Amino acid sequence: MALICLNCGESTLTSNLKITEEYKDTIDLADINAGCLNTEEPDKLDRLSAVKGLILSFSGGSVSETEIVKALSDDVELSRKLFGYCSYISVDVDLPPEYSDLLISLAEGFGIAVIKTFYADGPYSKDFSDRITALSENGRFAVRAVVSPKNTKEQLQLFEAAAGLSCLDYVFEALGDYGVPVNLLSGKFGGLYMKAFSEDSCSAHWQLTPEQLKDIYRFRNISQTTSVYGIIGNPVMHSKSPFLHNGGYEHSGIDAVYVPFQTDNPGLFLEKGPELCGVRGLSVTVPHKQAVIPVLNVIDDSVERIGACNTVVYDQDSHGWAGYNTDWHGFLYPLNGTELKGKTALVLGAGGASRSVVYALFRKGMDITIVNRSVDKARSLASEFGTGYDEIKNAGKYTDSFLVVQTTSVGMSPDVGSSPVAEYNFDSNGIAYDIIYIPEKTKFLQMAEAAGVHIMNGSSMLASQGLEQFRLFTGESLPPSVFGLQD
Ligand code: ATR
Repeated sequence: MALICLNCGESTLTSNLKITEEYKDTIDLADINAGCLNTEEPDKLDRLSAVKGLILSFSGGSVSETEIVKALSDDVELSRKLFGYCSYISVDVDLPPEYSDLLISLAEGFGIAVIKTFYADGPYSKDFSDRITALSENGRFAVRAVVSPKNTKEQLQLFEAAAGLSCLDYVFEALGDYGVPVNLLSGKFGGLYMKAFSEDSCSAHWQLTPEQLKDIYRFRNISQTTSVYGIIGNPVMHSKSPFLHNGGYEHSGIDAVYVPFQTDNPGLFLEKGPELCGVRGLSVTVPHKQAVIPVLNVIDDSVERIGACNTVVYDQDSHGWAGYNTDWHGFLYPLNGTELKGKTALVLGAGGASRSVVYALFRKGMDITIVNRSVDKARSLASEFGTGYDEIKNAGKYTDSFLVVQTTSVGMSPDVGSSPVAEYNFDSNGIAYDIIYIPEKTKFLQMAEAAGVHIMNGSSMLASQGLEQFRLFTGESLPPSVFGLQD
């Protein structure tokens, strides 16, 4: 099990103590920089006794830190007191040896474990692992490498390095979006802890709070046996899918975690990910939904016909990936229970999103017409599915369609005043469906509602396509309510 360590980067001891107090129930460790200690006010130091699992970090450089080291060397009582509060001290390898040697001998004299910290840019090849092994001095020190993976290749190199270091006490503190899965999977690879950030100090998506680690990722449950799933995309840190899938594992008691993999090279990730980080299934999002297809061993009918893949599942026997598209399941979810077969459907738009919609309606046996601003795209999509097509300005000709689906980007926030059709004669017994969900009610849906038509938006699509992904990953069908949908 890896621990949750709060990053206390405030400049004063008082403010660092305040955040450790605030998070004391969700953290195991707190990393406080020694530079914030004010040796002139010894009373304050006593308050460190309240910090759970204190790591006192000496990163070098600041005047106040140098003064503390001097004070510690002159005053045995002060050393005894300060080190008495620590679980670890962390010593930067670039600290002048006269300081670091002194600190290490003092800390070891009081039985405090020492972490040696260094900063490393990629690539993270054998030299990087060798450096960690050498710094550990046969287990005398724990080693903390602060790393900044810049791409998929470096992210995978860190997993490879981690697998080779699991017998040592080490921490990878990986910065940036590419670093998030490296940090989150510490518990699988034997890392000591992951840094978390107070809500106020989070300035980027890759910085996660102790609550996110505990509540979304169930970080402390991640171990060597935990199965790894996730999402590949670029960018990916805004995705809500980790929240859904991890909640599903918790509900079903499955030992698995779902993490966001920022990815600039999906082919490389699919090739190496199963071996290097044990990944078994992935959601695929923009811009990789087409790029993954050539790498797959098997694709199902939906991927072939929609031309995009949003789910891949690893087969350990064949060492290959199978691709699926669950977006069309997501689209159909709110229409469950509605008889569609043989009825008329008008689809506005012929872009990527429209393809999943047309596929879904085609499978339901509807009589479809696709209308689009550029008629060529409508014609081409129509020819693939044997549907009718027209220019969007002629949408009015297809009046009284039972189902009208709006798939263009027109009307999406902030363009809230626009609709791709100025007016349309809705079938009052029919349904108007806009796949946009921000705003909740687009101009198009407002028009439909005013005409007395049943309306629906795309708000359930993410969760419902995720339900099908969950089934493909784990073989389990979850009750929809676990993903926030109506059962
Ligand atoms: P997505 O993957 O979201 O579907 P897309 O593939 O770029 O994105 O498709 C965007 C769709 O919105 C297309 O049908 C596009 O029409 P064109 O093919 O004629 O470009 C449609 N669209 C975008 N802006 C539009 C506008 N101002 N009026 C009408 N249709 C528009």
